[in-house]
Amino acid sequence: MSSDQVKPLVVLGATGSIGTQTLEVAARMSIPVAAVAARQGSDRLAEIGETHPGCLVGVTSPTRDEERRFAARFGARARFGPESLVELAALDGCIVINGVVGFAGLPATLGALAAGNRLALANKESLVAAGPVVLEALSQSSGELIPVDSEHSALFQCLVGEPRSAVRRMMLTASGGPFFGRRREELENVTPRQALAHPTWSMGPRITIDSATLVNKGLEVIEAHYLFGIPLEDIEVVIHPQSIVHSLVEFVDGSLKAHLGEPDMRVPIQYAITYPARSQGVLGQFSLAGRDLTFRAPDHDAFPALSLAYEAGRRGGSAPAAFNAADEVAVHAFLEGRLGFQGISLILEKTLAATGWDEISTVADVLEADREARAIAHSMLGGAC
Ligand SMILES: NC(=O)c1ccc[n+]([C@@H]2O[C@H](COP(=O)([O-])OP(=O)(O)OC[C@H]3O[C@@H](n4cnc5c(N)ncnc54)[C@H](OP(=O)(O)O)[C@@H]3O)[C@@H](O)[C@H]2O)c1
Repeated sequence: MSSDQVKPLVVLGATGSIGTQTLEVAARMSIPVAAVAARQGSDRLAEIGETHPGCLVGVTSPTRDEERRFAARFGARARFGPESLVELAALDGCIVINGVVGFAGLPATLGALAAGNRLALANKESLVAAGPVVLEALSQSSGELIPVDSEHSALFQCLVGEPRSAVRRMMLTASGGPFFGRRREELENVTPRQALAHPTWSMGPRITIDSATLVNKGLEVIEAHYLFGIPLEDIEVVIHPQSIVHSLVEFVDGSLKAHLGEPDMRVPIQYAITYPARSQGVLGQFSLAGRDLTFRAPDHDAFPALSLAYEAGRRGGSAPAAFNAADEVAVHAFLEGRLGFQGISLILEKTLAATGWDEISTVADVLEADREARAIAHSMLGGAC
């Protein structure tokens, strides 16, 4: 596939792990970058803006000084404020990579779909918190949603050419994170530094902590439920520490399809850009000989957040949004040393218990569910957690 067959990219969350790897893919494939955006007006974002002459540069939460500097440096190419994400996501005829972290990525997801663009979605929080709203936007859109999360890209690829009626179950693999094999009582005093040392994937801080608690896998279960229309009870999580098998689909005839490869996000990012075609990638030949691939059931006692995510998914409505919001608050507090590791799942449990259940059919419903859960989680941080 040549670069002139690929639409220009809009890279949201351009300074992060997904954003950086997307820009690497773009550079290697000579794909033009139409716009980039991040939260802060950092030197890194300015550098990216300089590397791509003509591309628009969005800063959603600039300080006054950053706004002055970016306005002087990029002139009419600069955009400021949260609404700039939506403007950039809606640029005509682009592929939008949503690599923003957290709930803040939702408007961009909806903006890209409303504009009829291809949305390469890494921002799982959009789907988790606002599943029904995003699915409705997708059904009205002339665009498409291609998952970037490695597990969902794997499932998506296993499903190519298969009718949905042929699917019996899906299995999402999880590395288990840095604390795989530890018992509950061995997790009491783990530090942010230990939790940030992921054994197989190099990612941003929130998803890395979420991988250590298994919250990330819980979010991914809900994401798969919405994305592929599969009941939660037909999605199983399997711990696979080597992160070579990225996920599997079991079909009604007893056949299983798995997607394998080295753990490298540039592969699913590139696939979301080139789909349905494939193009020469970064990785060399894969060798299976000599590899030990192991699989275990998750330890729900040591990592209770996974069961809580299933519960949130089963409750549906506002519960997944509340689960995600509480986790964003709890992870932030853990990284700042204000909350212990196990306090994260405690905050999730208590927030889910304290929030009401509401139907989610509009963006306003999602915002309200997110706001309420954040307030509850914040109030708990002042308490026993
Ligand atoms: N990293 C991975 O390997 C991976 C794999 C699968 C899925 N994902 C998903 O991809 C998303 C991004 O993860 P990541 O690991 O790349 O995170 P990250 O490294 O922390 O990067 C986050 C990016 O989002 C930007 N951002 C944060 N808040 C924003 C806002 N309000 N408006 C605009 N931009 C904002 C950040 O900008 P600043 O730098 O200015 O703060 C940064 O560019 C998450 O949803 C994650 O779950 C990541």
